[in-house]
Amino acid sequence: MTYVVTGATGPFGRLAVESLLRRGVPAGEIRGIGRQIEKAADLGVEIRRADYEDGDALRDAFAGASRLLFVSGSELGRRRQGQHANVVAAAVEAGVELVAYTSILNAATSTMDLAEDHRATEKLLTDSGLRSVFLRNGFYYEVYAGQVPAYLEHGVAGAAGDGPIGAAARADLADAAAAVLTQEPEKGVYELAAEVFTLATLAEAVTEVTGRPVGYTPLTGEQYREVLKGAGLPDEVAGIVVGIDLGIAGGNLAASGDDLAKLIGRPPVTLREALAQ
Ligand SMILES: NC(=O)c1ccc[n+]([C@@H]2O[C@H](COP(=O)([O-])OP(=O)(O)OC[C@H]3O[C@@H](n4cnc5c(N)ncnc54)[C@H](OP(=O)(O)O)[C@@H]3O)[C@@H](O)[C@H]2O)c1
Repeated sequence: MTYVVTGATGPFGRLAVESLLRRGVPAGEIRGIGRQIEKAADLGVEIRRADYEDGDALRDAFAGASRLLFVSGSELGRRRQGQHANVVAAAVEAGVELVAYTSILNAATSTMDLAEDHRATEKLLTDSGLRSVFLRNGFYYEVYAGQVPAYLEHGVAGAAGDGPIGAAARADLADAAAAVLTQEPEKGVYELAAEVFTLATLAEAVTEVTGRPVGYTPLTGEQYREVLKGAGLPDEVAGIVVGIDLGIAGGNLAASGDDLAKLIGRPPVTLREALAQ
């Protein structure tokens, strides 16, 4: 059995490789893929360089793969314009028996811009005939936990209204991906979140964990865009961030069920634990 993990040079793929090792997969049966391969040199598994842009390199890198964790790319425009199609084509050519793809919560119905790429990639995989599992990941807690210093200074602000944010620790989502690769998956689609919070309940959690009062200021999309630009974000990036919040306000990150706990076989990390860390 050869397990191939793309994005192994990033935090999610690294955590997934570490989880495969913890789950007893021999290091010699794991191959990580990335561009900046020096970042994964300490993982103790074979690492090969392949860019999602480069079909030939992907074909070489996937040769002999039986199970593939396809970690979605991070270059939003470019992954839409063919990168993910290259990955799927190379997986077909390699005769991969199972592909697990990191998608987004509610990918089939989500109106978020971000979800479009994931929906298109899920369709590519379905149409390819590859046996595929969609790991529809909630947002990483880390996206919010990394902002605690800013929350303490300015409070929580955003255009997500009271929209639900299904989220989990990145490590738990990566562990779930490794579980799917190493077990006989029961489902073709997993909606994965540990907890659902809103920006208002996030502010409450930050208050509780830090012992310092943090409020929530709901903003319109336009107001939030101006705040982000004022903080130095380029207009295009500010637009993407606002779009995510408006998508949250529209209920696109709603989540329920216990897929994540079942897959990892233990209670997932809570938001408060992640904030405390
Ligand atoms: N659920 C969430 O909250 C959330 C948040 C952010 C991102 N994501 C998604 O989850 C993925 C994994 O998360 P992460 O935290 O590990 O993201 P990350 O830090 O952005 O890492 C992205 C990984 O994808 C690789 N990659 C990107 N473009 C590539 C390309 N053209 N060819 C080959 N490899 C490429 C990178 O390789 P190199 O580093 O070697 O270039 C890196 O290993 C992201 O790529 C993104 O799709 C989810």
